[in-house]
Amino acid sequence: MLVIGIAGGTGSGKTTVVRNILKKLNSENVLVLSQDNYYKDHLDLSFAEREKINFDHPRSIDFDLLTQHVNELKEGKMVEQPVYSFITHSRTDETINTHPKNVIIVEGILVLTHPELRDLFDLKIFVHADPDERLIRRIQRDIQERGRDLEEVLTRYRTTLKPMHEQFIEPSKNHADIIVPNMKKKNEAAIKMLSTVIKDKINSVVES
Ligand code: CTP
Repeated sequence: MLVIGIAGGTGSGKTTVVRNILKKLNSENVLVLSQDNYYKDHLDLSFAEREKINFDHPRSIDFDLLTQHVNELKEGKMVEQPVYSFITHSRTDETINTHPKNVIIVEGILVLTHPELRDLFDLKIFVHADPDERLIRRIQRDIQERGRDLEEVLTRYRTTLKPMHEQFIEPSKNHADIIVPNMKKKNEAAIKMLSTVIKDKINSVVES
């Protein structure tokens, strides 16, 4: 089994990179775990209080559960993945029955910041896009998909996203084996190279 961690700032296009990797590999053998499903639940807080949580600080993620799940999947066990709602800022009642696969991709802004989780990765990737590009994508996505307004997105960007990016996410780039540029749509060469490295790793893991 091969475990790959993919980090990168908000709006860097991690999802697109994952999708492109899946196209190059046999996607039936790949499981994608998103850090987003592992936001801590705060049932004790009201909606207004939950809205104020700093979602870009590592402590907002249930890394214990995420690390436990990756360990269990590596042991060939099935896990119940939580499902998180960005609308209500809390876990839903649903869970996803998740079975282990040959390749596990763990993606999220903070996945390279946590030492124990990082140690489980056979390959560490960081997706890089310039801050202005990321902000543009974030505005579009939050308004279209997450029910936010422009003012809210910009305030959050200034007060938490940018400082947390500088404090935690950008420095975690140092742990990456490969940095994938994702500024323009033209990152085909990087994806091709990445798929070759992954295929190579799969073979060496199978052989060892
Ligand atoms: N977040 C939020 N509301 C919550 C929980 C998290 O707005 N209730 C935000 C955090 O502020 C964090 C972002 O979700 O910045 C993490 O998701 P992001 O990495 O932007 O999403 P992906 O789709 O994984 O990113 P990409 O554009 O790289 O594909």
